[in-house]
Amino acid sequence: SEQLAVGLLGYGTVGSGVAQIIHEHQEKLQHQIGCEVQVTKALVSDMGKEREVPSGHIEFTTDADDVINDPKIDVVVEVMGSIEQARGYILQALNNHKHVVTANKDLMALHGTELLQVANDKRCDLFYEASVAGGIPILRSLTEGLASDQIQKVMGIVNGTTNYILTKMANDNRSYDDVLAEAQELGYAEADPTADVEGYDAARKVAILATLSFSMNIDLDDVCVKGISNVTEEDLAYSKQLGYTMKLIGLANRTEDQVEVSVQPALLPNEHPLASVKDEFNAAYVYGEAVGETMFYGPGAGKLPTATAVVSDLVEVMKNMRLGVNGNSAVLPQYEKNLKADED
Ligand code: NDP
Ligand code: HSE
Repeated sequence: SEQLAVGLLGYGTVGSGVAQIIHEHQEKLQHQIGCEVQVTKALVSDMGKEREVPSGHIEFTTDADDVINDPKIDVVVEVMGSIEQARGYILQALNNHKHVVTANKDLMALHGTELLQVANDKRCDLFYEASVAGGIPILRSLTEGLASDQIQKVMGIVNGTTNYILTKMANDNRSYDDVLAEAQELGYAEADPTADVEGYDAARKVAILATLSFSMNIDLDDVCVKGISNVTEEDLAYSKQLGYTMKLIGLANRTEDQVEVSVQPALLPNEHPLASVKDEFNAAYVYGEAVGETMFYGPGAGKLPTATAVVSDLVEVMKNMRLGVNGNSAVLPQYEKNLKADED
């Protein structure tokens, strides 16, 4: 086709960033995929809000059917958040044979298997690179770059909001509430920041990382979670005095007979590589049996870093469309076993 028509479900921090990158990097995108990319429609909840539209015309609507059922739209990008509503819209889009890109880790951690199966059945792509660690291409690194290895351990900082809070509280002596408000203002936090500060957002991301790393169905209930809402300025000052940095650490560890997945605050010696990961930045240490130690680092939240991951997924969709192989790449690895079933 002459144009890849993209419909956005959501035009907030990430959605408006997607429109901006598509506009600003249009020449490179055209070169990569061989046609123009255009955002044609966007679902929002409030038609009265003033919105920046980088170029051309985007038709805003409050009716999701306008986007999902539009025969001219090739790819639906879900960047609105929520679980059940987003799940319904994505299923409807896939049933309409549209490819889907999402940044929604809540949804993918809970319903990823079902959605990927439907995508596969419909021979559509469903990509979700932006859902974990924002601008770091960690999912593709695990599923493609390290596809030949047996991954044994993933340890990382995968929530930008809590890392921002811990960094500013420790280094600038600012209060928890003050820094949380700033992280919300900067677009890092979830609509309800409870998910960030209580560690649930990180848990969903670690569940996705563990699922892809170990080719094993990791249930969210199997992740031990503790957040940072009880951390005080005194805790951080005291840790600093002792030469430690507090970080919210996600861990997925596989041994011969068990898998351990957790999220909790940890005190790292200042020399530890993860101790120097500041502000909204994320990092993941991945240990593979053959490759050994690898590290991934970059912005874990925010408008343009996250939108970059979404738009890169669009490029993959288009490449697959050209090759006629959509659907194949979207399937999760065949699970070796199910953690819960194993325990029974
Ligand atoms: P925002 O709150 O900034 O934007 C949400 C958008 O969706 C808004 O345009 C909103 O409309 C629209 N929307 C929400 N609910 C509805 C609804 N029921 N009907 C119609 N429109 C709706 O969220 P973000 O852009 O920050 O996040 C979007 C998704 O991306 C989430 O899943 C989040 O977890 C994920 N994500 C976010 C990152 C970030 O750094 N912000 C990073 C990685 C992933 P309106 O504009 O009218 O309010
Ligand atoms: N709220 C999330 C974070 C957004 O702070 O990391 C990125 O997934």
